[in-house]
Amino acid sequence: MALVYLNGEFLPPDQARVPVMDRAFLFGDAVYEVLPAFAGKLFAVDEHLQRLERSLAEVRMPNPLSRPQWRAVFERLVQEAGGGHLSVYLQVTRGVAPTRDHPFPADAVPTVFAMANPVKATLLSVDDLKPISAVLCEDIRWHRCDIKSTALLANVLLKQQAADAGAYEAILVRDGHALEGAASNLFVVLDGVVRTAPNSPLILGGITRNVLLQAIPEAGLACREEAVTTFELARASEIWLTSSTREIMPVTQLDGRAVGDGCIGPVCRRVAEAYLARKHAFMRGAQA
Ligand code: PDD
Repeated sequence: MALVYLNGEFLPPDQARVPVMDRAFLFGDAVYEVLPAFAGKLFAVDEHLQRLERSLAEVRMPNPLSRPQWRAVFERLVQEAGGGHLSVYLQVTRGVAPTRDHPFPADAVPTVFAMANPVKATLLSVDDLKPISAVLCEDIRWHRCDIKSTALLANVLLKQQAADAGAYEAILVRDGHALEGAASNLFVVLDGVVRTAPNSPLILGGITRNVLLQAIPEAGLACREEAVTTFELARASEIWLTSSTREIMPVTQLDGRAVGDGCIGPVCRRVAEAYLARKHAFMRGAQA
């Protein structure tokens, strides 16, 4: 595996060590980001760094690196991984403390870790869209899902619940509303209108979601940021999920039943075309 970044050094992964007294190990006291590189170029890097700054501010941690320093780390990791289509992961923890105490330790130095890994598949045409199945699950997460925290036990359990049911993703329901996936944002087509939950503390403000919110009107489609109820979801003609690494995932089976006619829908294809136009322009050299 390519070199990883840890606290200012680029190392082989098996030589990158974090002390057991690190707050991320003991408390999950850390935030993270995942950003894609397409054809070796970092996509929407400023948007991801802006979200990182927001997560850090919300958990009262300093940002250990400037934007140019972050970019330099990512670019070296992309180069070390040999370019291509990658997922770049970074994590900032509150650092190492002398004892296990819940309140913030004084003078802790953040631990900074980053790595780049090849993604299994990347969308280059609408023919690459792969249908997935999902299940509905009660959202058992906390009330600050807008913070990209590494404390992901609820998400891990929900993803496993989906896997146990033979599905790829869990669509999370809180107070009768379907909000997002365990690791993705949710889009639903209802009576010809695309719907997605509004940004709030109950969802992660996805970067791919933002790209689609710009692409959807460009594709001549109506979109509303309003969460759907489970009753609305049951009569949706199309459902898809988005994330930086999996891009657009059409959901054709929900709880074992076909969504719409059980095939990838025309609205999803149009939106994917508009998304791909942006992505191809970016890969040709235009700014994301
Ligand atoms: N997850 N909602 C949740 C809960 C997520 O974990 C993610 C991404 C998203 C999509 O956000 P974005 O488009 O910015 O990737 C929404 C990442 C990929 C992960 O945890 O690996």
